[in-house]
Amino acid sequence: MSGKVETHLLDGVLVLSIDSPPVNALSHGVRVGIEEGLRAAMDDPSVDAIVLTGLHGKFSAGADISEFSAAPKPPHLPFIIDAMEEATKPIVAAIDGIALGGGLELALGCHARVASSAAKLGLPEVLIGLIPGAGGTQRLPRLVGVEQSLEIMVSGRPVNAAKAHAMGLVDEVVEGGALDAAVQRAQQLAQVPESWSSVGEKNVNTEDITNSYYDNYMQSIAKKTRGQIAPGRIVEAVKGSTRLPLEDGLKLERDLFLQCMKSPESKALQHVFFSERAAPQLPSMDASAQPREIKKIAVIGAGTMGGGIAMNFASRGIPVRMMDVDAQAVERGLAVVRGNYARGIKRGKMTEAQLEALMGLFEPTTDYAELADVDLVIEAVFEDMDLKKRVFSELDRHCKPGAILATNTSTLDVDEIAASTQRPADVVGLHFFSPANIMRLLEIVRGAATSDSVMATVIKLAKHIGKVGVISGVCYGFIGNRMLEGYARESGLLLLEGASPQEIDRAIFDFGFPMGPMAMGDLAGIDVGARVREERRKAGSLPDDPRYGVIADKLNELGRFGQKTGRGFYHYESGSRAPVPDAEVNELIAEQAQKLGIEQRAIRDAEIVERCLFPLINEGARILDEGIALRPGDIDVVWIFGYGFPAYRGGPMYYADQLGLDHVYERICHYSETLGNEFGYWTPSPLLERLAKEGKGFLER
Ligand code: NAI
Repeated sequence: MSGKVETHLLDGVLVLSIDSPPVNALSHGVRVGIEEGLRAAMDDPSVDAIVLTGLHGKFSAGADISEFSAAPKPPHLPFIIDAMEEATKPIVAAIDGIALGGGLELALGCHARVASSAAKLGLPEVLIGLIPGAGGTQRLPRLVGVEQSLEIMVSGRPVNAAKAHAMGLVDEVVEGGALDAAVQRAQQLAQVPESWSSVGEKNVNTEDITNSYYDNYMQSIAKKTRGQIAPGRIVEAVKGSTRLPLEDGLKLERDLFLQCMKSPESKALQHVFFSERAAPQLPSMDASAQPREIKKIAVIGAGTMGGGIAMNFASRGIPVRMMDVDAQAVERGLAVVRGNYARGIKRGKMTEAQLEALMGLFEPTTDYAELADVDLVIEAVFEDMDLKKRVFSELDRHCKPGAILATNTSTLDVDEIAASTQRPADVVGLHFFSPANIMRLLEIVRGAATSDSVMATVIKLAKHIGKVGVISGVCYGFIGNRMLEGYARESGLLLLEGASPQEIDRAIFDFGFPMGPMAMGDLAGIDVGARVREERRKAGSLPDDPRYGVIADKLNELGRFGQKTGRGFYHYESGSRAPVPDAEVNELIAEQAQKLGIEQRAIRDAEIVERCLFPLINEGARILDEGIALRPGDIDVVWIFGYGFPAYRGGPMYYADQLGLDHVYERICHYSETLGNEFGYWTPSPLLERLAKEGKGFLER
């Protein structure tokens, strides 16, 4: 039995402290401990009141989701919370750190709540496809009203103590630990019986809730919550709280909770939750490997990526030496950084003084000699092997021993770059995604020689700067871009075969991506993709297929670079990002198809989705087989956080498992027979074939 509850008596108040490190999850042991503590308090005449709190600086992060795989053992949380509401002595929650999910529901079962000013409170169940299931949907509206409850539960985002206080979720906010103030409050409540009551006895304030409120609300969240059932169930439950007595509302909540629990979306989102946490783990890592201290960093190349990368560190208070070829280039880069931060001022997230303090962390330089004291360098110069090698040999000469040298290359061989230094063990790939200050994915590319201590350092650092780190081995394009190749290739071929850009994009959008491949091409820049193909053509690593990327290449020749020129696969009205179909593009496609002798036909959505996604899954299988990705979940995390694969489908590998690998294999074989060629476009990966024949999924390989 994991986790427990400590009790001690303090001036007539029995303090129950959850002790279940690291986050005080409400495991079976904790539930038993709380129940026993409550019973002891009720039975003991020397106890006047109870304070419920948590050790380790946290109240509780909620349910222990590792217990989700089996039916939880009693006592169940809702049962404990009911007992708390019915207690004959007042219970006060002392909330330090976090009260999330079941943790906050437990606090809602108390008769008052005191929070430390640094505390965060929230109901994030929606993020794993669930609704709060221990009374949260019924009690929260009784305290803070319908609108705030929906915001908290549908976004899943926690609120800080000040905000929680303003909306009435907590009764008191204190600096430092919450315990002393909670004990005092408990004593005061105990003295005046009519001064306390349970949340469940209150009514929800529905003054501002009109008849059309819920329909309008559902419409307002429709786009963001596409494909998910939990947000709608939260709305239903909250609606219930306004018209049902608590007991019936709790029954409704239970029904809705169980519907969500059984849904494929919730299972997929739970897979993503666990995969995200597993992705930065390197099982082969030497247990004695110590992370190095990173107090100061340098970024080489103040361009698109360099600026965004640097912002991540400055935002965490880490000073950054910013280097480029000349002073003007650094200045230009820093002006972009300033502009990005300044947007935070407009949105009221930052003050002028904070902006200046952040900018003060940047030190411009053009001289390698000034990098002698940094602990980590991230190189983000042009994508050119000779240039990168030159930069790395300079870094090797000037940086102190033990400094980590990282490259943000998106395609080049990290081992070859490492070999241009005398310290390949200190070289690693840190592949950020654009815009680097916003996108959460970070591929951590482990070279053949990269040491465990370097890996331990960058894994820790990724977390520190708020990134989702995924470990990748060295190969062309690493995990994400390597898989993107087949997706992009097939979407281009579909154009030639008769699907219009808008048909392809709509099918992929309907599958759940925020945008399809054509809209994405227009956003990223048609010229950027064309340059990559050109380089690869020169290097002999593109198939010698006249159809490959031909439409995008023609658009590039016409100067249709995408959104930035107002034309690409689509047309964009000035200042708008909304893609408008363009007859000129359709003509160009038809002309190219004719030239290449391709007969155009009507193509169904189902074929579009299979043609775009199955090559991606097939490549994922190769990546797994080669050990480039350590776990199928790592690939899923890359595609969800880096490319917009719908999280509620669990990522490409999980999705393939749900379809059944025998089905995926059979369809790939079908396309191999009908569309296969000497370039191996549809050759099934050996791992996929083996698993399909064994009746297994990627997750059970
Ligand atoms: P960019 O062209 O915007 O910036 C490159 C910067 O490097 C320029 O400011 C340039 O003056 C500077 N530079 C060139 N030679 C230098 C030298 N010898 N010393 C110091 N600075 C030098 O390029 P971008 O897009 O930022 O790409 C940089 C790297 O990041 C490339 O390796 C690219 O493949 C990679 N990357 C790019 C992504 C993107 O979406 N743009 C995404 C992920 C990685």
